Amino acid sequence: MAVKFPEGFLWGGATAANQLEGAYQEGGKGLNLADVLPGGKENRLGLLSSTGFNFEIDQSKYHYPNHEGIDFYHRYKEDIALFAEMGFKTFRMSIAWSRIFPNGDELEPNEEGLAFYDRVFDELAKHNIEPLVTIAHYETPLHLIKEYGGWRNRKLVEFFERYVTVLFNRYKGKVKYWLTFNEINGATHMPLFGLGFSPEKEETRLQDSFQGLHHQFVASAKAVQLAHEIMPDSQVGCMLIYAPVYSFDSNPENVLYAQEEARIFNNFCGDVQVRGEYPSFIDRYFRENNINIEMEDGDLELIKQGTVDFISFSYYMSRTDKKTKTPEEIGQGNLIGGVKNPFLKASDWGWEIDPIGLRIALNELYGRYQVPLFVVENGLGAYDKVEEDGSINDDYRINYLREHIKAMGEAVDDGVELMGYTAWGCIDLVSASSGEMSKRYGFIYVDRHDDGSGSLERSRKKSFFWYKNVIATNGEEL
Ligand code: BG6
Repeated sequence: MAVKFPEGFLWGGATAANQLEGAYQEGGKGLNLADVLPGGKENRLGLLSSTGFNFEIDQSKYHYPNHEGIDFYHRYKEDIALFAEMGFKTFRMSIAWSRIFPNGDELEPNEEGLAFYDRVFDELAKHNIEPLVTIAHYETPLHLIKEYGGWRNRKLVEFFERYVTVLFNRYKGKVKYWLTFNEINGATHMPLFGLGFSPEKEETRLQDSFQGLHHQFVASAKAVQLAHEIMPDSQVGCMLIYAPVYSFDSNPENVLYAQEEARIFNNFCGDVQVRGEYPSFIDRYFRENNINIEMEDGDLELIKQGTVDFISFSYYMSRTDKKTKTPEEIGQGNLIGGVKNPFLKASDWGWEIDPIGLRIALNELYGRYQVPLFVVENGLGAYDKVEEDGSINDDYRINYLREHIKAMGEAVDDGVELMGYTAWGCIDLVSASSGEMSKRYGFIYVDRHDDGSGSLERSRKKSFFWYKNVIATNGEEL
């Protein structure tokens, strides 16, 4: 039986400014985090897990793929026309903070940056595509990183408030759906991305990350309040990276361990942002890990009053774990940790593929919070081959997406309230964790390679036509 999706379901695709715009020094834009991240799996992954990164650009040693991205900055009209051809109802994008405030701490915004996003929103409107805008997607202005130490510093709350106030006043009437911090709960795992700092040493990572998170909770709550005041019909979501945690086996020790890991990784941020309170389980975790959060008077009230309207999340993989791991087992699981799951196959980048995990994730989240959900990232990073006639037969991507969409349909049937689905990297773009172009997610191929060569020309993959039909039939034909 075909799965059924609600009328008005928001089908579309997802991107982030730093991974596709390019034009890193045009239109008055200041440098941001992504501009100092080198390309190449080893270089970038090494950085993400290391300490003491200096945030300098070294062109003699590295290539910086985010500088040019896929040149969406100049080609957005052509790209949006392709999204429209697929029938997108929505397009998830982010605003690069340093286009609006080049350093992050100015008092007045950069008009050229604001005008660029006006043009993008107007183009989307022309095609009846609803924008879904992430306010902060791994793009902290570099000046805020170098001068202030990123989100560890409370000053960023004030700068963020100024930034969102400008966005909401400027784009009210054009943007209804907003997300505050991309994959906010990934912060403790990779503080560099979300919190814009590189830990001095391993021992300070957790303390600094949770302090940074507290600042983001306050900033996000303030943003929700401002959005509702300035744009009464707007809806603001949090954005989580969600990976159900499975116990490796039925040993209660492992089951308990998996539950504890899930609480901290999957539930903590959602509990604060959706329920408006620090959950009771975090006290013990903070105590046992010597974490002390500095709060100001009024923070907890603000967090209580600024709860989100919906939950959005990315889903790529589940995680399987056990309490005691042998050295061989460590690192055998996914990027986010865990051990190898014997029942699952993995992508070429070692991310375990688990469509049923998406149904589990949706049921876990809806069961816990009962607020509408939005899957805003999901997809397969894979190598694509261009045939002699120019075609790209990405059946592996179609299979991956089909199974995940089916699982989503099952979750809807389970009673989950689901707003929409935006497939990640609907057009090939620079990979966040590996800085590669060859890790492709798109329905649209971009002729651009890891070494920076290529014409940047766009072409339609087989999955393009498949997804177009999925949208046209509201998910009935998969
Ligand atoms: C998410 C991020 O973690 O996963 C995206 O929000 C990212 O920015 C996506 O691109 C896929 O990860 P990667 O490393 O394959 O690009």
